[in-house]
Amino acid sequence: MRRFVVIGQRAIASSDFSMLDIAGTSGRLDVLLRCVRAGFLVSHGLRQDTVMYLVLMGGTSAPKTLRIEGASAKFIRPDERSLATLVRKVLMVQTGEKGFVPVRPGISMAVGGLDCVLADLGVATKYVLEPNGSDIRETVLDLEHPVFFLGDHLGFDKSTRATLEDHGALSLGLGPVDIHAEDAVTVVLNELDRRGGMGKR
Ligand SMILES: C[S@@+](CC[C@H](N)C(=O)[O-])C[C@H]1O[C@@H](n2cnc3c(N)ncnc32)[C@H](O)[C@@H]1O
Repeated sequence: MRRFVVIGQRAIASSDFSMLDIAGTSGRLDVLLRCVRAGFLVSHGLRQDTVMYLVLMGGTSAPKTLRIEGASAKFIRPDERSLATLVRKVLMVQTGEKGFVPVRPGISMAVGGLDCVLADLGVATKYVLEPNGSDIRETVLDLEHPVFFLGDHLGFDKSTRATLEDHGALSLGLGPVDIHAEDAVTVVLNELDRRGGMGKR
């Protein structure tokens, strides 16, 4: 299982954004949507061994977290607009319950942020992706239960970084250049594919 956690510092936690200007009205939810495409879609298939958490920390409804599971997710399309429509429908649902509540096939939502994710992870080796971390090519990775944390266009805020450190997360680098979050997802998955195969449907 490959798990990713993308922290959207300003990504809106409600459906209150314009489909005509997703990037400009959603606190850059578009960055997270592109991570979804990179995390799940391969040529003619969907990675069923990927789980991705989108932590939405923007707007008055924040924090909320979406959990997308490749094994059961449906309607994951490659274009940002379709993904935005899907996330918008999910965010329209009101959930009063604690923890992750199923909302659509393969998509659950929790009212809460990083704390909810950390509570949900169970057995996991946590890696924080950042350019100055240990080079992934020279690191022996946990291939069974890895969880990779990524920042958005703003990187990580201090509190998130401190929480991850407190939880023993290891700093992992993908090379000297600061790349886009979705490209970081692709690079990690490629490294994992080379080391251990992948489940696809
Ligand atoms: C666009 S980058 C963030 C840039 C932001 N200006 C900053 O200072 O962090 C988005 C995320 O991708 C990941 N990332 C980007 N380049 C990376 C690299 N070379 N190695 C590891 N992670 C990287 C990090 O998790 C980063 O927070």
